[in-house]
Amino acid sequence: MKRELRETADGSKTLFIEELDEHYHSIHGALAESRHVFIEAGLKFIDKDEIHILEIGFGTGLNLLTTLEANETLKKRIFYTGVEAYPVLTEEVNKLSYENLDIPELVQSLIPEIHDALWEKNHAITTLLSLKKEEKKFQEIRNQNEFDLIYFDAFAPSAQPELWTEDVFKNMFKALKPSGALVTYCAKGQVKRNMKAVGFEIERLPGPPGKREMTRAIKA
Ligand SMILES: C[S@@+](CC[C@H](N)C(=O)[O-])C[C@H]1O[C@@H](n2cnc3c(N)ncnc32)[C@H](O)[C@@H]1O
Repeated sequence: MKRELRETADGSKTLFIEELDEHYHSIHGALAESRHVFIEAGLKFIDKDEIHILEIGFGTGLNLLTTLEANETLKKRIFYTGVEAYPVLTEEVNKLSYENLDIPELVQSLIPEIHDALWEKNHAITTLLSLKKEEKKFQEIRNQNEFDLIYFDAFAPSAQPELWTEDVFKNMFKALKPSGALVTYCAKGQVKRNMKAVGFEIERLPGPPGKREMTRAIKA
């Protein structure tokens, strides 16, 4: 599917897929959304020194970049697994140029390393963060009790309803450790009911710019 570059409200750029009528991030601010949903409500919620993160939809790697940005002060040991079935091309990533991140030099220097990193292998991106990219479909995830946090960043249920089902959330629930959390920008009623049906406790939180609510689901 063809991907086009688009600018979002906070000046950060994203990709757009016409066939799905979907952006990779919120048009109200890609960077603002990533920081609000995944960092403030996710990473900063996990009270551990060592955090294992699973990202559902590695895409452009923006959520990894905001994780690195936040970890400049948090200083956690992070093991980051990014799952993606349709990798973004390096030339597409280069055009996104996230110069408005707070660590532009570090980020710019890491972008090639992140995207050239071989799939299915561990890479020490910084002394504190290790990355493993896995090229596969979300529906194939079968990890058990491995992650403290899931960044659930699939395209919206209106575009890909098959990724927001009880079956998928059952596997997300299994992949989390006890007390682990899944965060997503989505707050749709049916999605929350599907999460609840597989055992998650649901928290409704204020959403990022342009959205009233987001969801945090806990494996209580
Ligand atoms: C909303 S975008 C993710 C944005 C990403 N987190 C970022 O910061 O760029 C959704 C991602 O899911 C991927 N995707 C869609 N369907 C998938 C599937 N069934 N399995 C794995 N990846 C899929 C897309 O290629 C896309 O990269």
